[in-house]
Amino acid sequence: MRIGVLTSGGDAPGMNAAIRAVVRSAIYYGASVVGIRRGYLGLMEGLFVPLDSHSVGGIINRGGTILETARAEDFKRKEMQKLAVENLEKNDIDALIVIGGNGTFKGALALHKEWGVPLNQVASTIDNDLPGTDVTVGFDTAVNTALEIIDRIRDTAVSFERIFVVEVMGRDRGFIALEVGIAGGAEYIIIPEVPLEFGKLVRKIEEGKMKGKRSCVIVLAEGAGKAEELAKRIREETGLETRGSVVGYAQRGGCPTAKDRVLATVFGAEAVRLAMEGKYGYLIGMREGKVSAVPLKELEGKTKEIDLTKLQIAGILSI
Ligand code: F6P
Repeated sequence: MRIGVLTSGGDAPGMNAAIRAVVRSAIYYGASVVGIRRGYLGLMEGLFVPLDSHSVGGIINRGGTILETARAEDFKRKEMQKLAVENLEKNDIDALIVIGGNGTFKGALALHKEWGVPLNQVASTIDNDLPGTDVTVGFDTAVNTALEIIDRIRDTAVSFERIFVVEVMGRDRGFIALEVGIAGGAEYIIIPEVPLEFGKLVRKIEEGKMKGKRSCVIVLAEGAGKAEELAKRIREETGLETRGSVVGYAQRGGCPTAKDRVLATVFGAEAVRLAMEGKYGYLIGMREGKVSAVPLKELEGKTKEIDLTKLQIAGILSI
């Protein structure tokens, strides 16, 4: 048995821990492992590298991905998928483990459904926007990194009595913003799932000011607007000193938290265990506290629900 492993889409802290788990589990079961560099791009271009137990030593604590990654727009094209399948055959790959988020899912579904490639996906993206799993590898670290930055920004907000609009990642979803906003005690959280009522936001800021609040931190999901634009709008409407700040790519890198390392390890091991049993076409994640395997086909066209009660709670507490 020869197992291929790749990481695709946005890098996420914990991807290396997942690669390590895949490689070492495969070796444990007597299989050999081939790494595919640069995700689906490497699959099309034939960027295959042999991996052994030593290749994945000392990486459990490293951010990014040793296999590198890419956003392979071309992979939507059937002829490119065919090329990938041919490369898998040429390299005698019997099973593939892909590690990534939503874009990775689309590629995996196409490879499995249209071309019959035996594969499993490890759920990994900082955005936590994959349906079929409560949590993805990388989310916890990204949230904690963004939180640290927000805590620092609050120092300036308090010292200057300023309003800050802090923009966090999440693509078109608000999972990071919601989590970070609650943990950072944000006065207001703006996510794409709930349209912004600007009048309500302004009232909240002005009421806070009247009650003696010395600062205001608004957490804005990137999918719901731009920090600088919203800051300008607030400044013009209220006359209060307002700044925009973008957390940016800092929240995507760095040393994974213990939680992400553990998730990556158990997901990676499970993806291989299922493959050794001949079980393919699954998204490996976590549901209700247990490692889960959900058929990729069941997740087609689905979107993940966000817990809006958390937003209500944040609103109640930020008086
Ligand atoms: O999916 C992870 C993510 O960091 C998103 O939060 C963000 O919108 C996107 O990737 C940025 O993509 P890129 O690295 O291609 O600029």
